[in-house]
Amino acid sequence: MTDHHKTNIMTLTRYMLEQQRKHPEATGDLTIAMNGVQVGCKFVESCVRKARLVNLVGLAGNTNVQGEDQKKLDVLSNEMFVNAMMSSGKFAFMVSEEVDDIVVVPEELRGKYCITFDPLDGSSNIDAGVNVGTIFGIWRLPSGPQATVDEILVPGSEIVAGGYCMYGSSCNMVLTFGNNSVEGFTLDPALGEFILTHPNIRIPPRGKIYSVNEGNSLYWDDATKAYFDSLKFPSPESGLKPYSARYIGSMVADVHRTLLYGGVFAYPSDRKSRSGKLRILYESFPMAFIIEQAGGRAITGIERVLDLVPKHIHDRCPIFLGGTDDMADVEAAFANNS
Ligand code: AHG
Ligand code: MN
Ligand code: MN
Ligand code: MN
Repeated sequence: MTDHHKTNIMTLTRYMLEQQRKHPEATGDLTIAMNGVQVGCKFVESCVRKARLVNLVGLAGNTNVQGEDQKKLDVLSNEMFVNAMMSSGKFAFMVSEEVDDIVVVPEELRGKYCITFDPLDGSSNIDAGVNVGTIFGIWRLPSGPQATVDEILVPGSEIVAGGYCMYGSSCNMVLTFGNNSVEGFTLDPALGEFILTHPNIRIPPRGKIYSVNEGNSLYWDDATKAYFDSLKFPSPESGLKPYSARYIGSMVADVHRTLLYGGVFAYPSDRKSRSGKLRILYESFPMAFIIEQAGGRAITGIERVLDLVPKHIHDRCPIFLGGTDDMADVEAAFANNS
């Protein structure tokens, strides 16, 4: 049987324990925190799979701080995540897309980390059965369990861990703790375990796909227009062929494809939304960290995303992310059109 069945599998928990062993100073707190994240993601995965059957599709009837109508699954995923994170005992407070203010953990359960998360990303897609996901970032708080919100309003480069889980044709968790390594795990539904299936993911320096909501192009600035025009109408000197367009409208799915195949994903600034749409703490920073650790870059057009410092927990930023050659073209377009 052993030639057909792998018996020595690398689960996410085993991976965390092995990393912990490699770093003698590690306390195991991150391993426990990640167990909470795993439980949260498995719960959301299971709800997404049966949403249509148990009447979980549609609106919850509330609006969140961003002025978006919350879906039932936005609300449920948020509650599940908050509870899983609190019970891990490793977080002092958290930031969720779906909660106006920070969520402070009861004193007896506080730890030295903060987690920022988008419990259900791409929720406008959910009723059509299109891929959605969860995005999260983990931060070490200098003052530990007594930390205040200003300790999270720091440059993105301070992030300790970034990850996302995509609920698609399979359930995939992609994670980085820095060290230039990004690992991908696939949920084995029979085992209920995330298994390492994509070790050491590297983003190709140049891809063939661009991913942006082109319906906003009327409002784009000259640099953004020039850049996307250059992908569709490449100059003969560039030697490039026109790029293909792919846009799902779930950041997790669009970034996951960009990470694996290369190319560019963007949510740029435009005349209607000066800071773009994506939220710094729980969308842009974790994704920028993953892309950089996989060998790519994430920029606003002008500056590195991970150099930004948010002023408020729900602040937004423009973002272009992808491989190094694609990002050099973005930078050149901004340099030539400002
Ligand atoms: P969320 O569902 O968490 O509010 O995030 C939606 C985001 C992101 O997933 C996606 O990249 C973007 O919104 C799509 O926005 P447009 O519909 O404006 O293209
Ligand atoms: Mn939303
Ligand atoms: Mn989102
Ligand atoms: Mn969301």
